[in-house]
Amino acid sequence: MEKFKAYVVREENDQIVHRLETIIQDKLSEGDTLVKVAYSSINYKDMLALEPKGGVIRHYPMIPGIDLAGTVISSESDDYQAGDAVLLTGYGLGTVHTGGLSEVARVPHEWLVKLPKGLELRDAMIYGTAGFTAALSIDALEHQGMTVEDQPEILVTGATGGVGSVAIQILHHLGYQNITATIRKDYQEEKARKFGATNIWDIRDLESNGRPLNKRQYKYVVDTVGGELTADILTKVDEYGSVAISGNAGGAKLETTVLPFILRGVNLLGINSVEISHEDRVRIWNKLATDWNVIDQLHHQEVTLEEFNQVTEELKAGKHLGRTIVKVNSEK
Ligand SMILES: NC(=O)c1ccc[n+]([C@@H]2O[C@H](COP(=O)([O-])OP(=O)(O)OC[C@H]3O[C@@H](n4cnc5c(N)ncnc54)[C@H](OP(=O)(O)O)[C@@H]3O)[C@@H](O)[C@H]2O)c1
Repeated sequence: MEKFKAYVVREENDQIVHRLETIIQDKLSEGDTLVKVAYSSINYKDMLALEPKGGVIRHYPMIPGIDLAGTVISSESDDYQAGDAVLLTGYGLGTVHTGGLSEVARVPHEWLVKLPKGLELRDAMIYGTAGFTAALSIDALEHQGMTVEDQPEILVTGATGGVGSVAIQILHHLGYQNITATIRKDYQEEKARKFGATNIWDIRDLESNGRPLNKRQYKYVVDTVGGELTADILTKVDEYGSVAISGNAGGAKLETTVLPFILRGVNLLGINSVEISHEDRVRIWNKLATDWNVIDQLHHQEVTLEEFNQVTEELKAGKHLGRTIVKVNSEK
């Protein structure tokens, strides 16, 4: 494949412009493995990648797409043969290294995960970075003692977004029955309940009373929103409860006191899907393919490379629901 299509973000005359282009392999970042990309998925970071001050792209031009699933075209590593089905999330793909919104990607083989049995390439991107992050969050909470036997009170924030919606569906699938979802638009309640939420917290009425500790309400939290919401949640977490925090959709600043930590033993667990070890990637993807497999339930839509930008606009406007995958190679 000499020439191929890729979505390119450029800085031109102090403006950020982006469009579908025909490019050659030399325009791709370095790597020892070429992958024919079947699918990428659309994540919050991809929306930020198109923003002038989005803060995720370090140098232009860049091909966005923070994840991909496809087949190996060729590799200098003995670990991969032509035709192997692979997936890749994180490591700066689509931010510092040309990403998944390209018919061909060139990446270091160490970044790849072999597609686990039980998943198709398409499935891997229906989960995508968001689903992987949801699974990492639940895994972190289970390591802190969350079990189905205890039926603890669980809160999921950003519940109709990518990470939140997959998190609720995995929790529900595993048998957790006390799941509260945060929403902030009327139509989101029905969606969140359909995903498996049993209680709804409409955060439009969020008004901090300024107290460092409030009534204990949640034992475990999957938090994708951050900011003021996280600050409020920390005052309501039960003794020795844990908050797995992955996102900052609602703000990066966190103003809190030490009291939830020193008087209630609350744990704040950082979730970083970008830099996580290869061993953990394989372990989590295997869970997503087997015991935690909710692929049949995940609400998703499929778009073409040409339509990528329309979906990021929906994300920006807060009108996007669930997951969207991008079909990158038309012949697949
Ligand atoms: N740590 C990691 O490795 C990692 C990996 C993936 C994602 N993330 C981060 O996780 C977050 C969620 O990602 P995503 O892909 O799930 O994004 P998404 O699909 O856009 O979902 C964002 C969710 O947050 C809600 N939200 C946005 N702004 C809010 C606000 N000001 N107050 C309350 N809720 C708000 C949205 O509600 P509306 O629909 O009402 O706007 C939506 O439910 C992002 O910050 C993303 O960067 C981190």
